[in-house]
Amino acid sequence: MDYSKWLKNRELEYKNGVLHIAGMNTIELSEKYGTPVYIVNENLIRIRYRKLKETLDSEYENNAIHYAVKANSNLSVLKILKSEGASFDCSSVGEIYTCFKAGIKPKSIFYTGNMFTNQDFKFAVENDILINLDSISQINRLVKVYDDLGKEKKTISFRINPEFGAGHHAHTITAGKYIKFGILGHQVIEAYSKAKQLGFNKFGIHMHIGSGVLDAHDFEKATEKLLSIAINLTDTLDMKLEFIDFGGGIGIPYRPEEDDFNLELYKNIVLKKFVDITEREVFGKPILKIEPGRYISAEASIILTQINTIKDNGFKLFAGVDAGFHTLVRPTMYSAYHHIIPCETKQGVQSLKYDIAGPICESGDILGKEREFPELKEEDFLAVLDAGAYGYVMSSSYNSRPRPAEILINNGQPYLIRESEKFDDMLSHQIIPEHLK
Ligand SMILES: Cc1ncc(COP(=O)(O)O)c(C=O)c1O
Repeated sequence: MDYSKWLKNRELEYKNGVLHIAGMNTIELSEKYGTPVYIVNENLIRIRYRKLKETLDSEYENNAIHYAVKANSNLSVLKILKSEGASFDCSSVGEIYTCFKAGIKPKSIFYTGNMFTNQDFKFAVENDILINLDSISQINRLVKVYDDLGKEKKTISFRINPEFGAGHHAHTITAGKYIKFGILGHQVIEAYSKAKQLGFNKFGIHMHIGSGVLDAHDFEKATEKLLSIAINLTDTLDMKLEFIDFGGGIGIPYRPEEDDFNLELYKNIVLKKFVDITEREVFGKPILKIEPGRYISAEASIILTQINTIKDNGFKLFAGVDAGFHTLVRPTMYSAYHHIIPCETKQGVQSLKYDIAGPICESGDILGKEREFPELKEEDFLAVLDAGAYGYVMSSSYNSRPRPAEILINNGQPYLIRESEKFDDMLSHQIIPEHLK
């Protein structure tokens, strides 16, 4: 893709040589809030959500987008999406609790956990949260929780592992015979018969094949498999499905040379095939659900970081910055690529290749390898792009480095939406036993 278009898609542009995000000067933001700092662009989250919603609406009206809270669970991000009419996908009780704090109602939450404990079930049942089971064995424990609480059983769903997985890294591929998630096709009739027999009377079906899928074709086989399972369920068990959830996974072009995910193709491969089977009288009109995280929030955030050290060891040039894998772990954890750009352009200086190195005491703390920049200097600012999904949520305080602040920008105004951690925050839950005092 044309580079300036790629930047513009993220509402990034250079004005008088300075990088601006949604019209705001990144050097001024860095100086005002300190670095490293996450900057979250509200408008872009809304744009991405609306684009997906329009895509779904154009194919089938009875649909819902459940934003995957795990991608970015900041309360302000959740409130932005709530105001757009989004529903939410949670992977833990902690995420459900966070949704409640954002004012989200139980009825718009779908709980796809895995390796559920009885405490997880109790919280979900007490709060009327729709549960998506991950193993047949879990249903007996769940029923006991319903019975103990005297709650009426209504809707239940199972996560199907369609065996065709995809994703940007082996660790993000979530379907396949040897993958821990969901139940396999041959277990489906047993699972739903059991659910029926145990008193559930409404049913949904779900899959999520992986995360960071940039080629829509990768959804094809899994979609066909899920739909054939859904048809078999309706035919065999005389069961009308309330919803079919195709999961998340829609990728974004982290590299300027990559193209956007092709939503038109996705429409043909996933949505139209779903619509085709709803033409069958017996099938009814189940809700079409998807649960994207990355597509909605990734491109909306950047990390601003400052160079503190330029090191030339005679073999390699390093630009040492104050963000590291404690701030953004994806490069270290998944060898993921994040584009890194200067906050200020320079004319008439040579271009050099640098490893952008964080301050964590591990050789793997490199945010970008062999990146070319006009010669960098200590105190320059850099922007790490596309950090709004699996960014802050996966950060840590490793090496006792406090997590950074998050700033929301909207209509030319910055809002502090999370303070940076203080040293005492990192120590706050430690208890020193008497004999060590
Ligand atoms: C069950 C489930 N749904 C949705 C998502 C969101 O994926 P993505 O952010 O790639 O859209 C995930 C992420 O792994 C997931 O595990």
